[in-house]
Amino acid sequence: MIQVRAQIRDRELHGAVHILHLHAPDLARQLHPGQAVLIQTGWYVDPFLRRTFYPVAIDDAGFAIRLAPDADRGRAWLRMAPQGAEIDILGPVGRGYALPERTRRILCLGQGDAAWTLLPLVHAASAQGLGVALAMEASTKRQTIPPRDLPITVEYHVATLDGSAGRRGDLRPLLPDLLRWADAVMAAGSLDFYHVLARMIEDARMILPRDYAQALYQTDFLCGFGACQACAADVAGGRRRVCLRGPVFDLVDILR
Ligand code: FES
Repeated sequence: MIQVRAQIRDRELHGAVHILHLHAPDLARQLHPGQAVLIQTGWYVDPFLRRTFYPVAIDDAGFAIRLAPDADRGRAWLRMAPQGAEIDILGPVGRGYALPERTRRILCLGQGDAAWTLLPLVHAASAQGLGVALAMEASTKRQTIPPRDLPITVEYHVATLDGSAGRRGDLRPLLPDLLRWADAVMAAGSLDFYHVLARMIEDARMILPRDYAQALYQTDFLCGFGACQACAADVAGGRRRVCLRGPVFDLVDILR
């Protein structure tokens, strides 16, 4: 983990959602999809605790974070911070997604805002020439990833609860075919989403094997290096510090 000063190099506005592009080449070189960064959200030490972000884009020059509207004071400060401002960042935290060797077809499955954390992985897998399908479910179209943000080779499926984009409802009707097609699954969503996914994998492939599905255990970190225990959770057969063992786990380790 390193500490850097990163400049806000650009800001995209999509309704009430901000995408901040941060110039941080040293950190970007070490950052893998699914890893977190801890950002100081104020000019001094107020608010004291850093905020946790899972980048939604990574390139040679830096990375991008997504700020959906909420009531948090620190994230509100970031929404207001001017272009060119320098912010203090620690990262990367923990282990991200790992593309298994000999995998040819990757299925990325996301739910709501968490689905955006799959975007760096989608781009990385596509750049390696792998077959990539992305399927996400969300409440409304506003939460979904625009197709223009994806490589053209990616097969994209969307389901929304209100039917404003893609199919109405959730992804369940699509999953049997997608799961039979995929060599590996990379997921980002809630624990309920992961339980449904595990059942669908068992239906499609008889069992939920190890090394088939990886899932992001999305949580907030305080120290990010194992010292404070704030991220401890019941995963991988016991009480574990997610910043050391995760935040990406084998799906088996999140559910059992
Ligand atoms: S964030 Fe401190 S131990 Fe994980």
